[in-house]
Amino acid sequence: MSTLVLLGAQWGDEGKGKITDYLSKESDLVVRYQGGDNAGHTVEIGENKYKLHLIPSGIFYNEKLSIIGNGVVINPHSLLKEIEYLNNKGIDTSNLRISNRAHIIFPYHLKLDELQERNKGKEKIGTTVKGIGPCYRDKIDRVGIRMCDIFYKDMFEEKLRKNIRDKNKIIENVYESEPLNEDEIVEEYLGYIEKIKKYVIDITVLLDEKIKSGNKILFEGAQGTLLDIDYGTYPYLTSSHPTSGGVAVGAGISPFRLKKALGVVKAYTTRVGKGPFPTELHDEIGDKIREKGFEFGTTTGRARRCGWLDLVMLKYSARINGLTSLALTKVDTLCGFDKLKLCIGYELDGEIIDYFPASLETLSKCKPVYEEIDGWENFDNIENYDELPKNVKKYIERIERLVGVNVDIVSIGPKRKETIMRKDIF
Ligand code: GDP
Ligand code: IMO
Ligand code: MG
Repeated sequence: MSTLVLLGAQWGDEGKGKITDYLSKESDLVVRYQGGDNAGHTVEIGENKYKLHLIPSGIFYNEKLSIIGNGVVINPHSLLKEIEYLNNKGIDTSNLRISNRAHIIFPYHLKLDELQERNKGKEKIGTTVKGIGPCYRDKIDRVGIRMCDIFYKDMFEEKLRKNIRDKNKIIENVYESEPLNEDEIVEEYLGYIEKIKKYVIDITVLLDEKIKSGNKILFEGAQGTLLDIDYGTYPYLTSSHPTSGGVAVGAGISPFRLKKALGVVKAYTTRVGKGPFPTELHDEIGDKIREKGFEFGTTTGRARRCGWLDLVMLKYSARINGLTSLALTKVDTLCGFDKLKLCIGYELDGEIIDYFPASLETLSKCKPVYEEIDGWENFDNIENYDELPKNVKKYIERIERLVGVNVDIVSIGPKRKETIMRKDIF
């Protein structure tokens, strides 16, 4: 038995999709454990580029099981669209399984997400408006509707009608907006559930069996550590647990079965949406990184904010996730810069700190302390670590030394072959 948690160590979009696909070759199952279709994971295979939002990035290996865990919130419309998108491209989805404990996203979640954001004005989070927060809120509020409910059509309809009426009261009276059409939503969803039923199972039974028979399981995180509801830059974050702590609960396995955690890290930092970002670059260097790295959101198309790699944040991420390896991605994007900077500490009230503050007020007073590193020229056709330019290796060694975790995977392009494995990490 072997289990590996793969997660974003920053603010999302680190290249989790690419690395998950790469490691899926040696996994038997790939499991998503949190988030929803707010995620956008890109996988490039040959000349094809695939964008996934809900379905695990292991789906390209037909024979492997792809599992959506109970910690994920599922919009059935997006799910069915994604299945169709993959099938149209010749990708088989019959090995997809969905937890019967996963919560379902309804149109009132999307509507409330939109209205709440609008109501916050300048303070808005900049969500993906996919209804993620409102759906998790209903789950915690114990009024959510789960996948297991779809097998009891009358009860499903009754719960749904009650929820629509309750939410319409909020939509009309709190936000003074137009109510949603109850009958239309019910009809739409009764159609979806018939199509989804075949994928829904108790994944706790399946995973237990697979673990006992020695399978290799890869857990694919969405979003990133700094977007975690507890450990992120609250309230500018998502409503789930992308951190390794979220895996056991979100996938239905015991935490004592989890063995290793791989943090996927972009060679610089990006962030979509609002919220603090100590190493953000508001100059032409930031623009150059955005252009070279094509830093535009996979889900919403928004331009990503760009900045230097923040090792204070990464150390924090390594600590709370128990990272055993790092995968450093987009190293190629940093080609052609004369000098690069690594943030090695924060200056706070005249002192240097190396921990990530919980309070945004404290964080706003922190000024990054940088170490300058010589850049590197373009490189091509590199297959192993030793062939990388000397300064790339220096950059990597500095990260390893300061974070205390080895960079076992180096990604130098979006394609499978543009991946350097320094060690077997499963
Ligand atoms: P995810 O959300 O963590 O899966 O990341 P996204 O897919 O949203 O964004 C990462 C983007 O970078 C995608 O377009 C990937 O194809 C691309 N990518 C991943 N690794 C590399 C790399 O090493 N180099 C380059 N140039 N692009 C990469
Ligand atoms: P992947 O899996 C980057 C951000 C949003 C917003 C905040 C809350 O592709 O890395 P939400 O819709 O979740 O309530 O939005 O979280 N966000 C992401 N940023 N990558 C993602 O996913 C994200 N998913 C949500 O931009 O700031
Ligand atoms: Mg993404």
